[in-house]
Amino acid sequence: MNPAQQPAAPAPERLQELCSLARELAVAAGGRIMRDRPDRLAITTKSSSSDVVTQMDSATETFLRQRLAQERPRDAVFGEEGGLQDGVGEITWVLDPIDGTVNYLYGIPEYAVSVAAVVGDPNSPGNWRPVAGAVAHPEAGLVYSAALGQGAWLYRCSFEEGAGPVAEPQRLRPSGADSLDLTLLGTGFGYRADVRRRQAEVMLQVLPVVRDIRRGGSAALDLCSVAAGRIDAYYERGINPWDYAAGWLLVTEAGGVVSGVGAQDPGPNGLIAATPDVHPALRELLERVTA
Ligand code: IPD
Repeated sequence: MNPAQQPAAPAPERLQELCSLARELAVAAGGRIMRDRPDRLAITTKSSSSDVVTQMDSATETFLRQRLAQERPRDAVFGEEGGLQDGVGEITWVLDPIDGTVNYLYGIPEYAVSVAAVVGDPNSPGNWRPVAGAVAHPEAGLVYSAALGQGAWLYRCSFEEGAGPVAEPQRLRPSGADSLDLTLLGTGFGYRADVRRRQAEVMLQVLPVVRDIRRGGSAALDLCSVAAGRIDAYYERGINPWDYAAGWLLVTEAGGVVSGVGAQDPGPNGLIAATPDVHPALRELLERVTA
């Protein structure tokens, strides 16, 4: 987004409050997801037979919406499962109750809760931006959080009911990767067969020119990994604001770069997150091979 057109961000102390609330809600929801997982998960499907919603996705989003109605009754809420609920304040909360739903379904620990406070309209690419957010990774006992202009931080955390951070936070920094050929690239694939075919064709051209690729199964955690320097870059086409709202801010506050493909901001053509030195070459490559 052109800086002159950016919706105004709240004052720094308000950002800190939004960030604390995002962290608290993500941890509370993450604890419930981990503790309350039933032996047999009830599922329904969305865009394809592999695009599942578990009973825990729906229950967790309801929990988050109830908590936000208590804590921030004026704000709008935009969630993966329940869509947009209008508000009268300047903030919209963008929620992914379980990012990495397929991992959760299979008992793979790479799933997360993503909670972000954004300004602007998250349904309108290029016209919104995250200002505070948190990504909880309950099975790892971690929560990542960031507020605009205040850095990106990692907290070790107990996910027991009523517990909170158990150690001083650690500041996040991206890796020092500076060339495409030494870039470990995270990516992901959508749920529709036609979308996956095209994504695989793009990866055919990307895989030979990077160090390797990783498919973790949670875009929110992939973005945390870029912020923390565990991978050097991440790219995916077709992810949604709830997948990346908090992670976008975590990467930029850590010192990484986030853009769209053929656009300044992430949107339907994809999201690219990378170290500052890798980002220009990765963006040029992706814009060429997806043109
Ligand atoms: C999915 C995950 C996955 C990504 C998909 C997303 P969900 O979100 O983030 O890593 O590749 O595009 O839809 O469905 O688990 O919330």
